[in-house]
Amino acid sequence: MQTTPKHFDAARHVSGLSQFLDDMSVPEGTLHAAVFYAKMAHGHIRSLNTAPARAAKGVRAVLTADDIRGENQIGGIIPDEPLLAEKDIHFWGQPIAVVVAETAALAREAMLLIECETEALPVITDPREAARQGKLIMPPRTVERGAVDTVWAECDVVIEDTAESGGQEHLYLETQGALAIPTEGGGVRIVSSTQGPTAVQRAAAKVLGIPMHLIEVDVLRLGGGFGGKEDQATPWAIMAALAALHLHCAVKLVLPRQEDMRMTGKRHPYSSDFKIGLTKNGKILALEVTFYQDAGAAADLSPAVLDRTLFHCTNSYSIPNVRATGISCRTNVPPNTAFRGFGGPQGMFLIESAIYRAAEAMGIEPHIIQRANLLREGDEFPYGQRTERCQAERSWDEAVQAFALESVIKRVAEFNATNSSHKKGVAVMPICFGISFTNTMMNQASALVHIYSDGSVSVSTGAVEMGQGVNTKIAQTAMSILGLSEARVKVQTTNTSRAANTSPTAASAGADLNGKATEIACTALRERLLKVAYEELKCSEDDVLSLGNEKVWRNGVETNLVWSALVQIAFFQRIKLSEQAQYATPRIHFDKTTMKGHPFAYHVYGTAIFEVTVDCLRGTYEVESVQVVHDFGQSFNRIIDLGQAEGAIMQGIGWMTMEEVLYAPNGRLLTDALSTYKIPDVYAAPKHIDVRFLENSENPLGIMNSKAVGEPPFMYGIGVYFALMNALKAFRPNKRFLLKAPMSPERVLTELYEPITAATMVSK
Ligand code: MTE
Ligand code: HPA
Ligand code: MOS
Repeated sequence: MQTTPKHFDAARHVSGLSQFLDDMSVPEGTLHAAVFYAKMAHGHIRSLNTAPARAAKGVRAVLTADDIRGENQIGGIIPDEPLLAEKDIHFWGQPIAVVVAETAALAREAMLLIECETEALPVITDPREAARQGKLIMPPRTVERGAVDTVWAECDVVIEDTAESGGQEHLYLETQGALAIPTEGGGVRIVSSTQGPTAVQRAAAKVLGIPMHLIEVDVLRLGGGFGGKEDQATPWAIMAALAALHLHCAVKLVLPRQEDMRMTGKRHPYSSDFKIGLTKNGKILALEVTFYQDAGAAADLSPAVLDRTLFHCTNSYSIPNVRATGISCRTNVPPNTAFRGFGGPQGMFLIESAIYRAAEAMGIEPHIIQRANLLREGDEFPYGQRTERCQAERSWDEAVQAFALESVIKRVAEFNATNSSHKKGVAVMPICFGISFTNTMMNQASALVHIYSDGSVSVSTGAVEMGQGVNTKIAQTAMSILGLSEARVKVQTTNTSRAANTSPTAASAGADLNGKATEIACTALRERLLKVAYEELKCSEDDVLSLGNEKVWRNGVETNLVWSALVQIAFFQRIKLSEQAQYATPRIHFDKTTMKGHPFAYHVYGTAIFEVTVDCLRGTYEVESVQVVHDFGQSFNRIIDLGQAEGAIMQGIGWMTMEEVLYAPNGRLLTDALSTYKIPDVYAAPKHIDVRFLENSENPLGIMNSKAVGEPPFMYGIGVYFALMNALKAFRPNKRFLLKAPMSPERVLTELYEPITAATMVSK
């Protein structure tokens, strides 16, 4: 067995040696681009005068929609988004023109000289208003199970209410950017900070009007993506390429932070109506919900995000009767997009809200209802799939036991009884997250492995390293199959010439899909090399050979044949030392007309317990602890997996507490800097974080028996919201607090001191 390596970038990252797009050396004479964007959220362009910018110092070109030779279209799922605005403007920040100059500073200065006259139209920033006006991205979608309409009469408790969750800025440390270099024969090489190299290549081919084989996209690593570069890295890459082909010169485009915040979409805000019905014992019989998704001005990934919201709106619970409808609403804000959890968090916030309200009405604690409804082996999800190797109850029971929930609850109750200005709250948050792209077609990946004659190994896959450690995991896979040390294996940049038709690194499936492809390629190489070794060692039929420790082993005993010698022998025998492989997730399928099928390879489970303390005079709060039992499958890199879990939990806490995306009524983003958009810092981190590994969880569908880890722990963060709600309730027991995230300190104060009305009184 190998020892578990640290994240391969760890030392480079902390010593500043890692390269990001903006650190790379560029060809001599590289030009720099800046993007001129709309300063209004909805309207027509009456006139656009770029002449003064063209005449400015150092400017080489100002490109508009008129300069596009192919199609001015970048919509991935629905073709409803131009690269550059033509006549109509649909959001504040929509790109209109690209200014190219000798330096980035000159390009920005010239940009200010562009004159754009517009005619304003009414602006919509509220998804429900968009729905009222019939402005939808696509027809509503419904996932349905059982007979919701007929069971309300059987319910002892029926609650209806509304729940809202807000947007979230990705705030990847590295902003969006690309470098485009023209190549021979009218092609272009694009170095892009993207999660989806093929998405960039495909869209660029369409807009530039050239075949995909003339476009090479290369990605070294991202300084974070979090979904924000799944689709939305594409426009900047194409703009750079457009300019590069136009000027026959390398062009670099890197967005300054504020422009990145203004021009790119975020997590989708949702406003949702729900109705939940239960027996007096707390069994949930029915859930009906309508989600109003704020898609922004174009479809982007919203339809796929909405599907995942519908799939995850029952979280870890078995609910026999469900009708979940999603309405994707077109508003005048930047197109919202993928963000860790991909609509799942919004769906889970809804069911947790519904359970919270039901518990309040029944005068019991939410965790009683949660526990009574957890999924069991073989239970059916509303989308038709059944649970397999279900860990919902096990992770719950282990967390409750390991972290002594009952005594925590008792201690908190005692604290609350003896403190008038400070109140504590506890909440339990189970999660169940499906792994696979909900679009079955996307669940494929490829790997290309070369063994060089010196015995070093090069691995190329479609996976993009964005901090999550996928390259380390892929290297570990190759190392373990070929029996090699870390120094032998290099995971190369992600490049469309070496890995074609890749899916974006997303859906937490990057390591599973690309790792499995690597596993297939390396296994084929190993078998080929062991055949050579068999001859070389003059083995007999019942000898079993294996690779390990850079050597060939016979029947578990080390031989003298070392890896580099074996490779040399194979090379001299003209044995193929390269292998390309494809992996496609088995079993999955989904019927979009019935919204039923088996969309996920497997599910990830876990349970978190939160404790918070609220200062009810100031509205401020602290997260005392988050304690988790999480199902990592058989983790084969616990350091990386723990880092993913802790980082995701922090990001989830940020979404639920302090991160607030606000648009003015005219559609201008108000929170467009770190002074107005607050993200968690070290002071906001829970004082105590304890993430434990659920033991004995096998997962043959994950790489090396592990489970995907990138997104699922994000949703533990929802627990902090309900812990805060419980603390508020301890301060003011007869008020029904709004189900509206984020629970910022400002909102805590408003909620605590607002007069109680008939509508906000707890009725018993
Ligand atoms: N971790 C870091 N450090 N940076 C990131 O950008 N993105 C998250 C997650 N963890 C992200 C991250 C998201 S949204 C996804 S889908 C997964 O990583 C993608 O990588 P994986 O499929 O290899 O897990
Ligand atoms: N998850 C993440 N990203 C995606 C998905 C998904 O299910 N589908 C398309 N892009
Ligand atoms: Mo992650 S939101 O699937 O990039």
